[in-house]
Amino acid sequence: MENILILNGPNLNLIGQRETDIYGKKTMQDLHKLIIEESKKMNIRVEFFQSNHEGEIIDKIQSSINTYDGIVINPGAYTHYSYAIYDAIQSIDKPVVEVHISNVHKREEFRQKSVTAKACIGQITGFGFYSYILGLYSIVNYIRGVK
Ligand code: DQA
Repeated sequence: MENILILNGPNLNLIGQRETDIYGKKTMQDLHKLIIEESKKMNIRVEFFQSNHEGEIIDKIQSSINTYDGIVINPGAYTHYSYAIYDAIQSIDKPVVEVHISNVHKREEFRQKSVTAKACIGQITGFGFYSYILGLYSIVNYIRGVK
């Protein structure tokens, strides 16, 4: 059974109350529920981590070396400028998929660039909470070698 980390970055703890026109009214708890339901269908184990602090996110990514088979990450605004998170993803020999709730390409110009996606096997953006589910299926298929 694969062990997958769902890692959320800054301000994602506020989904459900933050800019609801963009991120919707469902909360982090709703997101976890949805992911747990899907994880049962996929026969995987999931673990959740959220932090507003870059260093904590990096520590968690590094800890995956011995703990997780892969990471589904939403780095929040760090996506657009954190070379430290990019380096952390590059440093581990585990697949990482980047996901976004909103379609970052349809928004402000600064969001259209991801420095972290270059270190990932792929990026999924714009499908609301379903981005995480698509991310999970993608990473599990990748780990299991499904073409
Ligand atoms: C986000 C998009 C980022 O640009 C933004 O800073 C976020 C959320 C998303 O999931 O759509 O915090 O990662």
